Amino acid sequence: MKVLFVCLGNICRSPAAEGVFLHLLEERNLADQFVVDSAGTGGWHVGNPADRRMQAAANRRGIQLPSRARQISLDDLHDFDLILTMDSDNLAAVKGLAREAGSRSKANIQSILSYATRFSETEVPDPYYGGDAGFEHVIDLLEDACCNLLNELSPSA
Ligand code: 4NP
Repeated sequence: MKVLFVCLGNICRSPAAEGVFLHLLEERNLADQFVVDSAGTGGWHVGNPADRRMQAAANRRGIQLPSRARQISLDDLHDFDLILTMDSDNLAAVKGLAREAGSRSKANIQSILSYATRFSETEVPDPYYGGDAGFEHVIDLLEDACCNLLNELSPSA
C-alpha cells in the first residue's frame, strides 16, 4: 500500500503527517507493508527539510521527520494508492491533477481529517506564519487522524 500526504509547501503539515504515520507503522511492526511519502502542491521549498519548528514539535513526541520537500507530479496519481490532503485547497489541486491524468489516475484521494474522531475540524491549519501552539495542534490533529487511518487500513494490527 502506497500512501502520499499532500499540503502546500511540503515543509510543515505533510512532512508531519508522513512522520506521524511512519512512527505508527514502526510501533505496530507494519513498516514493510507500506510506502509512505509526502509532497507539496507548490514548488517553492523543493529539496528542503521540514521546517525547524515542525521538526521540534514532532521530536518532542519522539517522532522524526525524514522528508525532503518535493512537488507533487502527475505520476503520483498513478503511483500511489491513497493520497491524503491537509486542506480544501490541496484537495481541489490534487483532484485537478487527477482529472488531468485521466485514466492513468488510480489514487483514492481523501482529506486526512475525514479520519479524525477527536476533532471536528475539517482542515489542518497552515502553521507557517503562527506560533509554536499551531505546530503542536498540527501534530494533535495528525496523531488522531493517522491512528484511525491505520486502524482502517490494517484492522488486525
Ligand atoms: P505547509 O506550510 O503547506 O504545511 O508546508 C507552508 C509552508 C510554506 C509556505 C506555504 C505553506 N510558503 O508559502 O512558503
